[in-house]
Amino acid sequence: MEQQKAATLAEIATADAAALEAIRVATLGKSGTITAYLKTMGKLTPEERQVRGPVIHGLREAVATAIADRKALLDAQALDARLATERLDLTLPVALPPAGSVHPVAQVMDELAEIFADLGFAVATGPEIEDDWHNFTALNIPETHPARAMHDTFYVERTDGSDAGAEARMLLRTHTSPVQIRTMLSQQPPIRIIAPGRTYRSDSDATHTPMFHQVEGLVIDRGITMGHLKWTLETFVKAYFERDDIVLRMRPSYFPFTEPSAEVDVGFTWDKGKRVIGGGGDAGGGGWMEILGSGMVHPRVIAACGLDPAEWQGFAFGCGIDRLAMLKYGMDDLRPFFDGDLRWLRHYGFAALDMPTLSGGISA
Ligand code: DAH
Repeated sequence: MEQQKAATLAEIATADAAALEAIRVATLGKSGTITAYLKTMGKLTPEERQVRGPVIHGLREAVATAIADRKALLDAQALDARLATERLDLTLPVALPPAGSVHPVAQVMDELAEIFADLGFAVATGPEIEDDWHNFTALNIPETHPARAMHDTFYVERTDGSDAGAEARMLLRTHTSPVQIRTMLSQQPPIRIIAPGRTYRSDSDATHTPMFHQVEGLVIDRGITMGHLKWTLETFVKAYFERDDIVLRMRPSYFPFTEPSAEVDVGFTWDKGKRVIGGGGDAGGGGWMEILGSGMVHPRVIAACGLDPAEWQGFAFGCGIDRLAMLKYGMDDLRPFFDGDLRWLRHYGFAALDMPTLSGGISA
């Protein structure tokens, strides 16, 4: 037995997992050699048992312990080997879905670009830091014009320190209308553009923020009339609100850069205490909501851009994008638009890959 013990322990010391299990079965298993010794114990005389008992138990104990130790060692080695091959590099970027989503203002700008592209309009841009001439003077708002006071302008110091006169004064554009001027100066008619972008006025409450968004529209061609303006606006508003029952009302108004000028209201109806764009107007207890300003481009504006107003006419319109977004997507406070709160974005935001298309649904 002592010999068997030494031989078995030596085998265990070098066994792999499979060999170890074979040794366990051959020695301690149901018909194993050591199990067989244990079974002989009952037939021994008390004297024999006193001598052989400790030897048999010693053998069983030594082999069982050696197998358990070897197994623990092999398991630990196997685990180490697995951990080495399955190592994860936690410094690699993970492919989680992005936390952000498309802001409603960006979504509406995309929708506008899609709608107007279908009507043959290009998207134009201009600088947010403008000079006085493009923002005011060229738009028929001279130095002394009262409309200047209404614009609550943020003026900016020129970095070159020069004082090149009032018209070179720099400011944050108060509307997107200066893009009309830049486009007429840089392109030959016929012109069909929209110009969405940021605008600034020193004004802040529940419905005004110092930075807000507008979209400008401009068409310059021969023989353009108010009829073209009305059709374009109706087509745009129907496509934007995705409803055919849109009713528009043009109200005579005044803007220095258009003559005649019209403010445009869209009819709404009430549904469960909420205003819904579409139908209505005065009928059925609904009402009107102002959505944009428009008119025929003033001959002086056309002339300021070096074009002959006798040959070229056009219409223009300007519209608040934030307000358009609120009306369409049912948001009633303007301030969260500029808070950068991810919870608000998760509620109102749009998936980055859902591009608005006329065929697939403009707000899909
Ligand atoms: N620029 C005007 C504003 O900010 C909006 C506007 C009105 C633009 C009439 C136009 C227009 O092009 O024709 O209040």
